[in-house]
This record gives sequence, structure tokens and C-alpha cells, in this order.
Amino acid sequence: MDGLETLRAAHLTAIRDASDEGALEAARLAAIGKKGEVALKMRELGKMTPEERATAGPALNALKTEIGAAVAARKEALGDAALAERLESEWLDVTLSPRPRQQGTLHPISQVTEEVTAIFADMGFDVREGAQIEDDWHNFDALNIVPEHPSRAEMDTFYMAPREDGTRNVLRTHTSPVQIRTLQKEGAPVRFIAPGRVYRSDYDQTHTPMFHQVEGMAIDRTITMAHLKWTLEEFVKAFFEVDNVELRFRASHFPFTEPSAEVDIRCSWQGGVLKIGEGDDWLEILGSGMVHPKVLSNCDIDPAEWQGFAFGMGIDRIAMLKYGIPDLRGFFECDLRWLRHYGFSPLQVPTLHGGIGG
Ligand code: PHE
Repeated sequence: MDGLETLRAAHLTAIRDASDEGALEAARLAAIGKKGEVALKMRELGKMTPEERATAGPALNALKTEIGAAVAARKEALGDAALAERLESEWLDVTLSPRPRQQGTLHPISQVTEEVTAIFADMGFDVREGAQIEDDWHNFDALNIVPEHPSRAEMDTFYMAPREDGTRNVLRTHTSPVQIRTLQKEGAPVRFIAPGRVYRSDYDQTHTPMFHQVEGMAIDRTITMAHLKWTLEEFVKAFFEVDNVELRFRASHFPFTEPSAEVDIRCSWQGGVLKIGEGDDWLEILGSGMVHPKVLSNCDIDPAEWQGFAFGMGIDRIAMLKYGIPDLRGFFECDLRWLRHYGFSPLQVPTLHGGIGG
């Protein structure tokens, strides 16, 4: 067949010279594509005599195969070259020293819990812990919370699926069940705090469904409300490291204390920035009161002989106040930038002599 050898040489050269995948594909189409030169030659087969066709046909097929192989070989060579180029340009020096910021930080909740513990330990309070999954009796009944009390409503409380006998567990709604567990186990006198996680169905700028409280309790023969007031004032002064923090004791009601008081702290929220000790706003930080005689007798402690105070304080709240964190939700979003900004050095343990602040 005329010119087959010229055609072969021209196409093989074009393929060998293709400098990238695009050029190679163009060369492939020009040679053995549907409208390529080899295809055009194949169309001429129909016009040939059978004898001519007998030699031209196999020759064209062989050429098509040879060109196909050349394209594949060139493609592989180009791929190798591209890889070599990437390896050359994208290399990484694994002997570089690590970036300096490799240390984690302590979450403000952990920090504040440590601070609170240090202050109360100095006043002779031990630390007790309870479970986050409680039963109705410890979370409500033993604390003199009647079945129809609003805090027992489904709306606020996360209940677990009921058992066959109808009883069910709850995610504790406060740290007060630790009062019950400690009194039952240890009797009186006791003096402890109990920090930990609690759960309520609530979500806005100052409420999250999981948050933290610290319970405090002191039971002895002659403890009065004056001791409660002094203890809380000492705590607040030490915690905020200032003398002019203003507290407001507001008469209130809790089923497990009588009398009861809620305690607010004076603050301002100007321009989204929270300041304590000044301004016209009050932020509630705790509930407190004298332990109800029924709570004591529910724990087999004689209320004629023993009395004392209890309080429950929001750890997240006082962390927000002390460190000027305006939105509680950020505490639990695990945003690395937030943690780096508000986190604390894990090596600075708060003590009364070394400093309570971060
Ligand atoms: N348990 C109460 C609450 O969560 C706080 C509290 C504790 C009040 C102890 C009085 C005594 O709101």
C-alpha cells in the first residue's frame, strides 16, 4: 500500500515527541482515531482487488496495533515524568523540628473546678463525687421534692427509658443527690463540696443541656445561716480575688432547704462584655439554705441533734463571670481557637498561696 511506511514514521515520531497528555491524545486521534489517517486508509480497502486487500488489510491492522502500543508506552513515560516532577517539587523535610505550639490547654471548667476546690479545701471542706445517672429517689424524693414539683417535669429532666416495674433513672438535674449519698454513707458531721456535671433540657446564651455545679454541705450541731453567709462571702472574695464583690441574698424556695436564699452577684453586661462588681445587673450564681429536717431524717440523721447549710453553685456561670466569657455555648463546642484563647496552662495548679487565677 502506497505511503504506509511514511505514514507510520510520521505518526510514531509525533507520538514520541508528544510533551504532555494532551498532545499525546491529539497524536493518537490523528493516527488511529475514528477519523485518523489509519481509519481513512482502511476505508480504501473496499475499493481494492481481493489480492491487494489480502496484503493491505493485515498491514493496516498491524500498523494500528503498533501505534496503539506506542501511545501506551509514551503515556506511561509521561506519567513517570509527571510523578518524578511532583516528587521533586512537593518534597517534605521530615527532619524539620515540630511547630512550637504542641501543648494542650486546660478547659476553663477544669481550671475553675480546681480553683473552687482549693478555696473550699482551705476552709476544711472535703471533696465528694456522685454518679451522673441517678434514680428518682436520690435526685428528687429524698430531697423532699414532691412528685408534682415542676422540676420533675419531662420538659426539664432527661429521663432514661423506664424499667418493667415503671421506675426509671434520670440524668441528675443538680449535684444535690450527692448530699443524700454522702449523708447516708457517712452520717453527721460532714463538710464537703461535690463538683460535677448536671443535665437539664435548656439551651440559650447562658444555658446548655449539660453544665456544671458544685454542691456544698456542712452539717454539725450548731451550724447556722450566718456560717453559710460567711462561707460564701469568703469564697467569692477568694475566687474573684477582690474585696468589693457585692452579693445579694434573695429569699427563695427550695424543697430541700428552709429557709432558702438565692445568691446573685453584681455585674454589668455593657457592649457584650461582662464585668463583675459593678453595674446594675445581677447574675444568679447559686441557690442555698439551711438543710430541711426531712432531708436529714430521710438519711437517718436526727434533725433534733444535727443541722447545717447546703448550696449549689453554677461552675460555668462563675467561670464566665471571672474570665469574661459572654456565651456559655462556646464552652462545649470544642473549637480549637476558643480553647487556645480561653484555655489555661496545665502546669499552673491553683493554690491559695500561689494564686487562684490562671
Ligand atoms: N440544687 C439547687 C439547684 O440546682 C441548688 C441548691 C443546692 C439550693 C443546695 C439549695 C441548696 O438549683
